[in-house]
Amino acid sequence: MTIDLAALPQDFLWGTATSAYQIEGAVAEDGRSPSIWDTFSHTPGKIAGDDHGDTACDHYHRWPEDIGLMRELGANAYRLSLSWPRVVPGGDGPPNPKGLDFYDRLIDGLLAAGITPSVTLYHWDLPQVLQDRGGWPERDTAEHFAAYAAVVAERLGDRVTHWATLNEPLCSAWIGHLEGTMAPGLTDLTAAVRASYHLLLGHGLAVQAIRAAVPRAGIGIVNNLSTVHPASDRPEDLAAAARMDGHTNRWWLDPVHGRGFPSDMREVYGVELPEREGDLATIAAPLDWLGLNYYFPAWVSDDPDGPAPHARSVRRSGVPRTGMDWEVDPSGIETLLLRLTDEYGARRLYVTENGSAYPDVVRPDGTVDDPERQAYLSGHLAACASAARKGAPLAGYFAWSLLDNFEWAYGYDKRFGLVHVDYRTQARTIKGTGRHYADIIRRHREGV
Ligand code: NOJ
Repeated sequence: MTIDLAALPQDFLWGTATSAYQIEGAVAEDGRSPSIWDTFSHTPGKIAGDDHGDTACDHYHRWPEDIGLMRELGANAYRLSLSWPRVVPGGDGPPNPKGLDFYDRLIDGLLAAGITPSVTLYHWDLPQVLQDRGGWPERDTAEHFAAYAAVVAERLGDRVTHWATLNEPLCSAWIGHLEGTMAPGLTDLTAAVRASYHLLLGHGLAVQAIRAAVPRAGIGIVNNLSTVHPASDRPEDLAAAARMDGHTNRWWLDPVHGRGFPSDMREVYGVELPEREGDLATIAAPLDWLGLNYYFPAWVSDDPDGPAPHARSVRRSGVPRTGMDWEVDPSGIETLLLRLTDEYGARRLYVTENGSAYPDVVRPDGTVDDPERQAYLSGHLAACASAARKGAPLAGYFAWSLLDNFEWAYGYDKRFGLVHVDYRTQARTIKGTGRHYADIIRRHREGV
């Protein structure tokens, strides 16, 4: 499939994305303290195969090689996250010089390779010490997050201008505190709603901290949004779809756009928000860009007895699916980019993650041919280009992921990488999709 890339600007960021806990390993090195994901993944039965991130892709030691891979792909950008427990092992209090030095070297390495770093401050790895003091359901955590943001912005802000506060706060709040299948593994609606509030408050406070330290910073937030479809035209299912849209999309977008928390959803949750005067203005601190992580659409039906938002995901048959059993629907990414443009007035957008896991077969010569992942990438890039043609101010695309890595509760079995990782040897091999991506990037650069 040939993709018409002409609508994408010449300075488009072509990147890959990763996150600290999923690739770094070295969990007990150079003063890092445990995060909630160390605790969760070492709790028997929480992760497929009882996998954990102790070694992961050993990126902490192999980052120069990984930058080399980015260069081979021809990428001009890289989205990484910083490990809070590596930088501020006490959660609050003094920074860890060795932790900061690591990111310093990594950023310098990226810049020397001509790759723009996009730094995410929080990709789910809360220092366990803060969880022990109540975690995100407590207001202090938001304040400690802003202090950590100030530390890293002061240290890296002379070279990093592209900052994101939170990655997918809906997963931290809803999956971590309500569904319980991600750290910290709670199933408590009150804790979940309070966590959602303090995550967004922490976001707003961190925006202020970064702005103060790095006046030329471009700051955004990364949300995983979904197109939500009712499973039927029954009024109950239509209402369930509206609630799921509130839960997944509006709850996270409205407050940062100065619209407050959606009142219909406040009613659905029935949990009092820990509001203080001035918080809504803090949460709505102006942003320079919005990040969209997109993987699959949601189809839902009414589920009055289920947990909030009382909507159940329905598995449709006869549609293509990835190895995660996620439905493949490239049109969703276009719809969401246009929604952010039209409904939320976005001035700059990035696809901060998009990608697919499929069972990979490594050939005897070590290569991996992965036509399904390649088709997923092409289909979604074509939909991005189409959104740009229709006016979405799309400024970059970050493929998830550079490397196969620790896929949270699914462990190492699910592989999203453009680069295959042999976890026994840590050998990296660029997959067919990596070559395909390199080709797309080159064609765009050359205007062909
Ligand atoms: C989104 C998350 O940000 C990332 O950590 C995860 O690996 C991908 N989705 C794939 O599930």
